[in-house]
Amino acid sequence: RRRTRTVHLHQMKERGEKWSMLTAYDQYAAEIFDEAQIPVLLVGDSAGNNVFGYETTLPVTLDEFVPLVRAVSGAVKYAMVVADLPFGTYGGSVQQGFDSAVRLMKEGRAHAVKLEGGAAMAPLVQTLTAAGIPVMAHIGFTPQSEHNLGGYRVQGRGEAAAKMIADARALQDAGAFGIVMEMVPTPVAAEVTKALRIPTIGIGAGPECDAQVLVWQDFAGLRGGKAPRFVKRYADIRSTLLEAAREYREDVAAGTFPNQEQSFAE
Ligand code: KIV
Ligand code: NA
Repeated sequence: RRRTRTVHLHQMKERGEKWSMLTAYDQYAAEIFDEAQIPVLLVGDSAGNNVFGYETTLPVTLDEFVPLVRAVSGAVKYAMVVADLPFGTYGGSVQQGFDSAVRLMKEGRAHAVKLEGGAAMAPLVQTLTAAGIPVMAHIGFTPQSEHNLGGYRVQGRGEAAAKMIADARALQDAGAFGIVMEMVPTPVAAEVTKALRIPTIGIGAGPECDAQVLVWQDFAGLRGGKAPRFVKRYADIRSTLLEAAREYREDVAAGTFPNQEQSFAE
C-alpha cells in the first residue's frame, strides 16, 4: 500500500471505484481507520460538536484545532489527512485563508485542506492550489453557514440545483481535487457527479457520489440520541463503553478488581 494521493482519487473516479472517508480527531481513531484501509481521513471542524461539546462548528479556533490535526497525521501511514479550515479563518480574504491553510499544513501536518462555499471561494482555492496545498471543497448544506441557511436543511432543491452545479464547476476549475456534498437530493448530487472530472464525496447526498463520508462518532454509535437520516450505525460503541464503565464501577465497589493477578506481590 502507498499513501493515498489526489491522483489516486482521480484514478478511482475514472475506474468507477467508490471510496470512503471518515472523520478522525485523535490518535487511536486515526490508527484504526488507517488500518481498515479508509483512504482519506477528515479532521473535521465537526470536532466542535463531537469533541469539544459546542452546539455548532462555529466556535472552533485554529489554536484548539491544529493539535487534533497533528495527532491524526502523526498516527496514519497510508491515509490522506484532510483538515477543515474552521469558521472565521478563511472567509475574510485570500491572505487570511492562505495563512490559516499554511498552519494546518505546517503545524498540523495535514496533506490537504477543506473549505465550505461555492464559486465565491474559487480565488482562495486557486491560490492554495498554486501554493501546493490540495483543496477539497464542501457545498450543499455547509454547517458554518447554518445561520444563513436557516438550520439543517437539504440544499439544491428545485431552482437551486443549477447554482449548485455551477458552484461545483467553478470549484473544479479553480483546482479543487474533490467536493463534499452535504444534504443534497440524490438526482442533483448524481448530476454534479457526472458533470465533474474530480470526485464527489457525499453525506446525505445519495449513492451516486464517487465517495461517501461519515462522522466517526455517528457511524460507530458513540453519540447518543437520534442520528441524522443519512447516518448508518456500524457499531454500538456507546453501549459497549457504558456497560464496561458500569461493570468496572461494580467490580471496584465489590472488591473484585484488582485481584492478585493485577497486583504486585512485593
Ligand atoms: O466536519 C465534518 O465532519 C465535515 C464532514 C461532515 C464532511 O465537514
Ligand atoms: Na466540516
